[in-house]
Amino acid sequence: MTQNTQVIFKARPTGWVDDSHFEIVSNPASTPGDGEALVRNIYMSVDPYMRGRMREQKSYTPGFELGKVLQAGAVGQVVESRAPELAEGDLVQGMLGWENYSVAKAGQLFKVDGKAAALSYYLGILGMPGMTAWVGLRNIGKPRTGETVYVSAASGAVGQVAGQIAKLQGCRVTGSAGADDKVAYLLDELGFDAAFNYKTAASLGGALGEACPNGIDVYFENVGGAMLDAVLARINPLARIVACGMISQYNLERPEGVRNLATIVANRALMQGFIVSDHMDQRDDFLAEMSAWLRGDKIQYRETVAQGIENAPAAFIGMLKGENFGKQVVQLADWPA
Ligand SMILES: NC(=O)c1ccc[n+]([C@@H]2O[C@H](COP(=O)([O-])OP(=O)(O)OC[C@H]3O[C@@H](n4cnc5c(N)ncnc54)[C@H](OP(=O)(O)O)[C@@H]3O)[C@@H](O)[C@H]2O)c1
Repeated sequence: MTQNTQVIFKARPTGWVDDSHFEIVSNPASTPGDGEALVRNIYMSVDPYMRGRMREQKSYTPGFELGKVLQAGAVGQVVESRAPELAEGDLVQGMLGWENYSVAKAGQLFKVDGKAAALSYYLGILGMPGMTAWVGLRNIGKPRTGETVYVSAASGAVGQVAGQIAKLQGCRVTGSAGADDKVAYLLDELGFDAAFNYKTAASLGGALGEACPNGIDVYFENVGGAMLDAVLARINPLARIVACGMISQYNLERPEGVRNLATIVANRALMQGFIVSDHMDQRDDFLAEMSAWLRGDKIQYRETVAQGIENAPAAFIGMLKGENFGKQVVQLADWPA
C-alpha cells in the first residue's frame, strides 16, 4: 500500500506562524471513488493567502480546518482514475493538499501540458500568481504607455510578472523588494527603470520620491501598511491602485492604520481590490498571452524550489518572511519520474 506523507493544520497561529502549527503524519494513500482520480503531487505551492485561511474569522475562502490536511495548489500526475475524462499518466493542476498523494474530483482538475513549460510554472507564471498580475493590471490598473507604475514586493511571484507586463506596455516601471540581490534582479534582469530596498532605505517617502520623480500613476499593491501610506502621498491625479494584497499585515494582531487616504479624493484616484479566482472566465486569454510572452522570451521568471513535503512548513514560513526569491514552490516528487 502506498504511504502518503501529509501536513496537518495542528494549531491556529496568532501572530507569526511557526513549526508548532503543523504536524507531519504518514497514512495510507486514499482510494479514488467514482468520478475521482488519485494524483501523485509533483510540485505544490505555498502562498500568502494561506495565512488568511489559518485565521478563525470569515474570509473570501473557507478557513483551513484544524486537524485536517492543509490545502494547496499543486501539479501532479494521475496514478489511478475512476473518471472517464482522466487517464493514468495525465498531468493535472488543481487545489490539492500538502501531501504526496491527493484524491480529487475530475471536474476540479485542469489538464496541463508538461512539454509546453516546466511543470512548476503552472503554480507561478502560468498559474494563479501570474494570472493575478495579469488580471489586476488589465481590469484595474489599465496602465498606459509612458505612465509610471510602482510595484511593491516586486521580485515575488506576482510582483515580478506585474512589473514586466507593465514594461511590455511601455510604462516606466519601478519597484521595491527586501534585499539587495532582489533589487539587482529587478534592475538588471527584468529591466525595471528604478528599484530600491525598502528595508535599508532611509525613508520610504524619500526612496519613492527618487524612484518616481513624476509621481505614481498605477500602484500594484502587494504590501499595505506603511508602504501604502507612503504611496498615497505620491499618487498622481486619476491614479489607479490595484489592491492585490497587503502581506505586511497578515501576521499582525492589530493592523496598522493608514493616514494618507484623503489623497484619493483630491486626485480622483481609484483603489480597487480583486480576487483572481473571480476571473476564471479570463483564464484562456491569460494563458494564451502569457505562454506567447514566455515562448518569445519577452518575460523572465524566477522561482525558489524547496525539496520534500516535510519542508513545506519551512518554505511557507520563509516565504512570509521574504526568504523566497521569486515564486516559492515545493517539489514533492522527482520529475520526470
Ligand atoms: N488578490 C488576489 O487574488 C491575490 C492572488 C495572489 C497573491 N495575492 C497577494 O499578492 C501579494 C504577493 O503574493 P505572492 O504570491 O507574489 O508572494 P511573494 O511576493 O512571492 O512572496 C511574499 C513576499 O512578500 C514580501 N514581504 C513579506 N513581508 C513584507 C513586509 N512586511 N513588507 C514588504 N514586503 C513583505 C517578501 O519579499 P521582500 O523580500 O521583498 O520583503 C516576500 O518574499 C500578497 O500580498 C498576496 O496576498 C493576491
